[in-house]
Amino acid sequence: MHKIAVIAGDGTGPEVTAEAVKVLKAAAAKFDFKVELTEFDFGGERYKRTGELLPDSAVEELRNFDAILLGAIGHPDVPPGILEKGILLKARFALDQYINLRPVKLFPGVSTPLKDKGPSDIDFVVVRENTGDAYTGTGGVTMKGTPHEVAVQTAVYTRFQVDRCLRYAFNYARKYGKKARGKSNKNTLALCGKTNVLTYIYDLWERAFHEMGQKEFPEIAREYYHVDATCMWFVKNPEWFDVIVTGNMFGDIITDLGAMIQGGMGIAAGGNLNPEGVSMFEPIGGSAPKYTGQGVINPLAAICAMQMMLVTLGEEKAAAAVEESVMFVTANKMKSLAAGRMGYSTSEVGDLVAARIA
Ligand code: IPM
Ligand code: MN
Repeated sequence: MHKIAVIAGDGTGPEVTAEAVKVLKAAAAKFDFKVELTEFDFGGERYKRTGELLPDSAVEELRNFDAILLGAIGHPDVPPGILEKGILLKARFALDQYINLRPVKLFPGVSTPLKDKGPSDIDFVVVRENTGDAYTGTGGVTMKGTPHEVAVQTAVYTRFQVDRCLRYAFNYARKYGKKARGKSNKNTLALCGKTNVLTYIYDLWERAFHEMGQKEFPEIAREYYHVDATCMWFVKNPEWFDVIVTGNMFGDIITDLGAMIQGGMGIAAGGNLNPEGVSMFEPIGGSAPKYTGQGVINPLAAICAMQMMLVTLGEEKAAAAVEESVMFVTANKMKSLAAGRMGYSTSEVGDLVAARIA
């Protein structure tokens, strides 16, 4: 029995989450496991009604689940930062979900804006550190609103944070690395940083990277890319990449670029992982409020997030089947991954994926 907390959230979150749950139930029936779903209504509507974001008591409750499935957080009537900090980032930090795993995989039949690139070229994963960097809230503002206003927001990394993230990434490269992709014949882990400017933070990352690689993962080849160059190569030579590890801020930015080259926000999924605790899975795209309730939003990103959840729950066979079904649907059914242009409604896409599993 897997106990799953479902936070459908705002905007189109509930619509896409319903399809992820539909496919989850189909996979559970087919592969003979049980799920118990508990819904939570955290999000912009609840905040507007009650002023409550994600209270500490909810965090404690969430600790009792095997995984969390999240739709989307973000509401047009709530100023930016409140829901993000109070719900999404709060969950990531309080549950110490120190890895944000974001696969960038072009599925068959999906069009990429990169000319002459196909599914064999775009298939890598970004291991984004998820607890440090400029996301810690370190800093402040003085003389606000005056011409002398001073704003400081500091990127913070500890050796501990860096090491645990690197260890996860090296292990991931060991387990899932695809030899042929790196520039050597070894599985490859690439560090994405900015050692030429962020000479404290990324110097720490780089030293820790090579020390750990040498000592514990000698069979994994190590590469280093500056973050700006990483963006360049994502567009020009995405086939160079296999497993990439990076800090929180750069990881945020490069995975939006990654999402675009894999076919857009309609398909991009991620997992906020605490390998020793409770992990939370979400589509990367936001709540897309303008499409709310129209049944036109693409549920595949939410379905793919649920697929990543299955891997974490140890349901590897079911996870493989869900991925195969999504690939079948992108290759043979859907006209486009864009909202309103799929050739199907939101729930019809869910039906197609679920039917293929059954
Ligand atoms: C993401 C989002 C969040 C982030 C925001 C909404 C706080 O952009 O999950 O990538 O910056 O991590
Ligand atoms: Mn982002």
